Amino acid sequence: MSRISTADLKNKMIKKEKITMLTSYDYSTAAMVDAAGIDMILVGDSVGMAILGYENTLAVTMDEMIHHTKAVVRACNHSMVVGDMPFLSYHISNQEAVRNAGRFLQEAGAQAVKLEGGTERIETVKAIIAAQIPVMAHIGLTPQSVNQFGGFKVQGKDLEGAKKLIEDARALDAAGVFAIVLECVPAPLAKKITEEVSVPTIGIGAGPDCDGQVLVINDVLGMFKGHIPKFVKKYANLEPLIMEALQAYKQEVEQGLFPAAEHCFTIKDDVLEKLY
Ligand code: KIV
Repeated sequence: MSRISTADLKNKMIKKEKITMLTSYDYSTAAMVDAAGIDMILVGDSVGMAILGYENTLAVTMDEMIHHTKAVVRACNHSMVVGDMPFLSYHISNQEAVRNAGRFLQEAGAQAVKLEGGTERIETVKAIIAAQIPVMAHIGLTPQSVNQFGGFKVQGKDLEGAKKLIEDARALDAAGVFAIVLECVPAPLAKKITEEVSVPTIGIGAGPDCDGQVLVINDVLGMFKGHIPKFVKKYANLEPLIMEALQAYKQEVEQGLFPAAEHCFTIKDDVLEKLY
């Protein structure tokens, strides 16, 4: 299977084939996601909560994102890898934004970057695209703005909010993004936005009419004990299975049952005898 490109995503949208995307943050998980044929892997700044134990995404740094993106890239032959630009990596100046976006491609080997925001980020988006770096936009509930939103709330429920999201999506499309993530947006509004723009929309909590879907891998696999949003579907419940395995290991080590003979290396008797 060859690597998915932005042109492949557009073709899927035109042919009305749904686009698949999941997050990953490490080599072994990304290798499975890639082998499953998922179109895109997002190395999300959700790494902050899912892996690093932070309260939200705001503490995640560029260096942490590059570290995790490198691990994911090493595992991928098929999926397009998208690096998520963390808080403050694209807010200070366009020059800094281009340099940070470039690090995802040059240092980590990703194929594209994602950043949060609508009309207020258009000049930044344009500057990054002008440096030949494909940009995925992210509007709706943008977790880096949690303090401004006053919590994790569905966006675009009133007329003003809905109009703003349509305006954001149109402006990002015109600026040249290759896809738009819609997070926590009422399903009928996501459908309207999907009809309005020329690029694929990727929904998370945005209903079935987006061109594709994205979820956080730990939520999908049932490996996260914190709050699970309404829009998540758990396709496996690994946490109890892992706990069972860990408890069995602890018990067997404590009882001297592990390691057994089949886990041990041998040495010739005549060598051993000379040690005594
Ligand atoms: O960081 C992330 O995982 C994301 C997705 C929720 C879209 O931005």
